[in-house]
Amino acid sequence: MTTIADLFGIDLSIVQAPMAGVQDARLAVAVSNAGGLGSLPCALLSPDGIRRELEAIRNATSRAFNVNFFCHEVPAPNPERESRWRAALRPYYDELGIDPSTVPAGSGRAVFSADTVDLLSAFEPPVVSFHFGLPATDLLERVRRWGGKILASATTVDEARWLEARGVDAIIAQGLEAGGHRGMFLSNDVTTQVGTVALVRQIVTAVRVPVIAAGGIADAQGVAAAMALGAAGVQVGTAFLLCPEATTSPIHRAALASDAARHTAITNIFTGRPARGIVNRVMRELGPMTELAPAFPLAGAALGPLRAKAEAQGRDDFSPLWTGQNAAGCRNVTAATLTRELTSAS
Ligand SMILES: Cc1cc2nc3c(=O)[nH]c(=O)nc-3n(C[C@H](O)[C@H](O)[C@H](O)COP(=O)(O)O)c2cc1C
Repeated sequence: MTTIADLFGIDLSIVQAPMAGVQDARLAVAVSNAGGLGSLPCALLSPDGIRRELEAIRNATSRAFNVNFFCHEVPAPNPERESRWRAALRPYYDELGIDPSTVPAGSGRAVFSADTVDLLSAFEPPVVSFHFGLPATDLLERVRRWGGKILASATTVDEARWLEARGVDAIIAQGLEAGGHRGMFLSNDVTTQVGTVALVRQIVTAVRVPVIAAGGIADAQGVAAAMALGAAGVQVGTAFLLCPEATTSPIHRAALASDAARHTAITNIFTGRPARGIVNRVMRELGPMTELAPAFPLAGAALGPLRAKAEAQGRDDFSPLWTGQNAAGCRNVTAATLTRELTSAS
């Protein structure tokens, strides 16, 4: 079987999951230099930010690394939905003394465009990964021209077949246990989502390309189990959140280190798309899923000032605490140590 270590020319078949908002080049470099595949999430970065982080990676490692993008459709603004959402949040604005008329609209997430490929082509990242489907075929062709390998997340067998038909080099099977956004793109129905053990096995059977298991894998035994199911590698996110190289906020770190981390749920409150995080006040009171949240990524803007004010008071009531169902692997150890430990039983 081809492992992802063979596919990417690296030592260990471990991908550090790209995690927008909680990491930059530093975590990616640490994992790549330890022999895994470090990842740089670009969803929340400006073009200048992407360039800066890629320079930092190229200056700090000669090993393979991955850059990651979201492939969502940019939604048309919907003032009616927006005002319904703000009305639902009104009691919180009143409680925290925020004037709703000062709350800015819209919050962007970078999408993958021809300009992005122009920027990337100066750095020729060895691997490019996508969440929420794939960009246009001509953009993928340009990545392939510099030898870039293409990965994308699938959350169902249908999505895996769809990705294989478009020629991806490997498929990330993202099980329901995974922290952060569900990569789902052929359906909005959360009941279609499958746990990691079932999903990996089904996708391995359905496609011929290598499959990378993701979701709830946090130690060497979990990695060995995923490989026994036929995975060619493993993508681990949550377990890296307490590493010193991650930029995880103090509030998120405190939640991860507490019993609260044992209770996560899928919520659309923070961005408009389903994502898994530690259950907190706004998830309990308005959700975790609600029809009121505007389309991705627009839901986030109205929560921004609530989050900022609550966090300044040391409270996580309005913060997205993206975390998978298995936070047991979260420890304050270096990313290199964790990367090596993940493969020590295989
Ligand atoms: C804090 C956090 C942020 C995430 N951000 C991204 C992202 O920007 N892009 C992406 O493709 N996946 C993202 N994910 C999902 C991961 O790629 C992966 O599916 C998940 O971390 C695997 O499950 P685990 O967290 O249980 O290890 C994120 C996950 C977490 C926990």
